[in-house]
Amino acid sequence: MARKPLIAGNWKMFKTHLEAIKLVQQLGYELAGHDLSAAEVAVCPPFTSLRTVQTLMEDDRMEFALGAQNMHSEDEGAFTGEVSPVMLQALRVRYVILGHSERRELLGETDEGVNQKAKAAFKHELTPIMCCGETEAEREGGLTQSKVEGQVRKGLAGVKDELVARSVIAYEPIWAIGTGKTATPDDAQETVSFIRSVIAKQFGDEEVGTAIRILYGGSVKAGNAKALFDQPDIDGGLVGGASLDAGEFAAIVKSAL
Ligand code: PGA
Repeated sequence: MARKPLIAGNWKMFKTHLEAIKLVQQLGYELAGHDLSAAEVAVCPPFTSLRTVQTLMEDDRMEFALGAQNMHSEDEGAFTGEVSPVMLQALRVRYVILGHSERRELLGETDEGVNQKAKAAFKHELTPIMCCGETEAEREGGLTQSKVEGQVRKGLAGVKDELVARSVIAYEPIWAIGTGKTATPDDAQETVSFIRSVIAKQFGDEEVGTAIRILYGGSVKAGNAKALFDQPDIDGGLVGGASLDAGEFAAIVKSAL
């Protein structure tokens, strides 16, 4: 089955819920009249905007999916400040970004923690967008493949094949995030294709590696999106900074249609 591209906007810690309304309305306006059946569009606002964005999109029948940027692995409990998969599911959240490099580098997220969260996401019918990627020093040291292989293997350890096939990975070289530097389409393609081979090996099934959607992330803009998305193994993008501008994000979406 052909993989449907996914263009997901990672808003990070930007926008109040009031500003979120404006951004989603602008995005709806920018994409009105476009047939979005060829790609899936998701917005991943901060927790405080999820409910607002959910009701707005449902009331206005917008065809965008809702995503969260993180979650806890437990259903509930004494975890002050955390949000559970049950809470996200109740808001009809479809995607949850897991193991973003900012969380790994700044907030101590580990591969084991990401793995627990991925399992919890599947249990509650949320689709993880699991992030992986190398630092600049790792890239220069020829360690790109071993880094992403470790993150992918540990992050998906013990998950059933059919669930892995339906999930999403975002390959995001850390040196490209928010820097304006992008991996070349060929370099991104090479690593994404390598990730497919790692998954095929891990699950002993070529089809799992072929079925999973793998996004590229790291300074995706309207000007470079098409060349990246045209690569045979890249199924869209996880877009940070450019997703905060409705016109720019819409242009990125259009390059995947
Ligand atoms: P960027 O962020 O597009 O601003 O580089 C991507 C991400 O961190 O997901």
